Amino acid sequence: MKVLHAAAEVFPLVKTGGLADVLGALPEALIAAGADVRLILPGLPAIVKGVERQQAVCEIGAAFGAGRISLRLGRLPRNGVKVYVVDAPYLYQRPGNPYMALDGSDWSDNLQRFALLGWVAAHLAAGELDARWKPDLLHAHDWHAAMACAYVACHPGATAATVYTVHNLAYQGLFAMGDFHLLGLPSRLMAPDGLEFHGQFSFMKAGLNYAQRVTTVSPNYAREIATAEFGWGLDGLIRGRGTQVSGILNGVDGAVWNPAGDALIAAAYSAQALDGKGRCKAMLQRELGLNVDAKAPLFAVVSRLTSQKGLDLVLAALPALLDGDPAVAAQLAVQGNGDAALEAALTRAAAAHPGRVAVRLVYDEALAHRMIAGADALLVPSRFEPCGLTQLYALRYGTVPVVRAVGGLADTVVDATDEAVQADLATGFMFGAATPAALAHALGRAVSAYRNQKRWRQLMRRGMAQNFSWDEAATQYMALYREALDSDPPGMTR
Ligand code: ADP
Ligand code: GLC
Repeated sequence: MKVLHAAAEVFPLVKTGGLADVLGALPEALIAAGADVRLILPGLPAIVKGVERQQAVCEIGAAFGAGRISLRLGRLPRNGVKVYVVDAPYLYQRPGNPYMALDGSDWSDNLQRFALLGWVAAHLAAGELDARWKPDLLHAHDWHAAMACAYVACHPGATAATVYTVHNLAYQGLFAMGDFHLLGLPSRLMAPDGLEFHGQFSFMKAGLNYAQRVTTVSPNYAREIATAEFGWGLDGLIRGRGTQVSGILNGVDGAVWNPAGDALIAAAYSAQALDGKGRCKAMLQRELGLNVDAKAPLFAVVSRLTSQKGLDLVLAALPALLDGDPAVAAQLAVQGNGDAALEAALTRAAAAHPGRVAVRLVYDEALAHRMIAGADALLVPSRFEPCGLTQLYALRYGTVPVVRAVGGLADTVVDATDEAVQADLATGFMFGAATPAALAHALGRAVSAYRNQKRWRQLMRRGMAQNFSWDEAATQYMALYREALDSDPPGMTR
């Protein structure tokens, strides 16, 4: 089975969040499961520079405002997976992240930039661009690649099946209806059962409406997005697709996240030999200017700073965490960047609590490893969370997750209720309401568990024994691909 994955990010070349981690690991697992997998990525500076052994596939010419577009085939640096690079300097050769300029504003031509990605993926899937390789199935990720599903659906020569994965329903790729003509798609798609969304048009809907199968990155999030609370106005459409929407849990790339062989952390450790974790903690406390205190429970956050991630709850629950029993002296370390108001509030909190609160407003992969290895507990108090990867990494590193019971967080953490602890199933702490009080209560439970080191080690070991593997996810994707290949395209005859 030949499968083409289309996406905007891939670890380690371009990463703004978990999407990159998924594209950095899933293709290799699918290859191990027997598929012939390639990626297609936009020719962003780090992709053009980092993809190895690039060879010309074809010249595409001019489209979407770009005067010169060419397609090249190369290999990803870490795992050698084959990757097509859409080289369009006019659209992609810019500083900043894939979606925004350095000043934080969206690129004004994101419509053209990501329509091009989907358009090239679809024509590759139609067998028009590479005479040597034609995918049976195109798997598009998030809104950036979603338009591929509409282009395939409208292409009379495209036979590829399509699968669309929603990594985050909140980012939809909405653009002004007046620019619809730029897509080069039939005007009949300009309707509510097509791409139209409240007077605009939506890339997300191209995936949701025109892919044979839709997945999300956890079973619980698949259920949640069919409700008004988590559906961002798309829940009706999602309910309408019924069992064609499903959830497949992300995994952990053990080649990147493994405390026993992580070159980025101060000392290696494992569930059998935990001593190294204490060294990681002391080094992290020193590095961050926290009091070097083995007995102080160190809570960490590694996150994009957006309203999704619930950092405002952490700030509001901070007094309860810090002002409790003075013998406990809990500490908080936050790594992340994004929202300016959150950055400022976190900076103020660190200044107000020297030695107890530290904040690093940076995107830094190595520091993220040191944080997750060195902390005792990881906070993920998200308002919504499609899967969440940091809690999976934390489990692996014996860092006990404290999470809100939403999305993939609820699927991957077992709350330390008395029964769960007695049955030795507990791996972390969970809270329900998105309120500072509910978070503070969960933090209080974590702090008291921490004071009973035997109980805490039991939580650590149970977490470290979890196996969130990409092999399991790949098996499920393979079954879904077979289903998609056997099914009719939805809603439109080509
Ligand atoms: P999301 O994709 O919504 O941001 P995930 O938990 O799925 O959430 O993935 C986040 C990824 O980004 C993880 O690999 C995490 O370690 C990483 N990450 C988040 N913030 C930072 C940061 N400031 N520096 C380095 N890595 C970060
Ligand atoms: C998104 C989600 C996150 C998920 C990641 C990878 O960015 O916010 O929950 O883990 O995609 O699928």
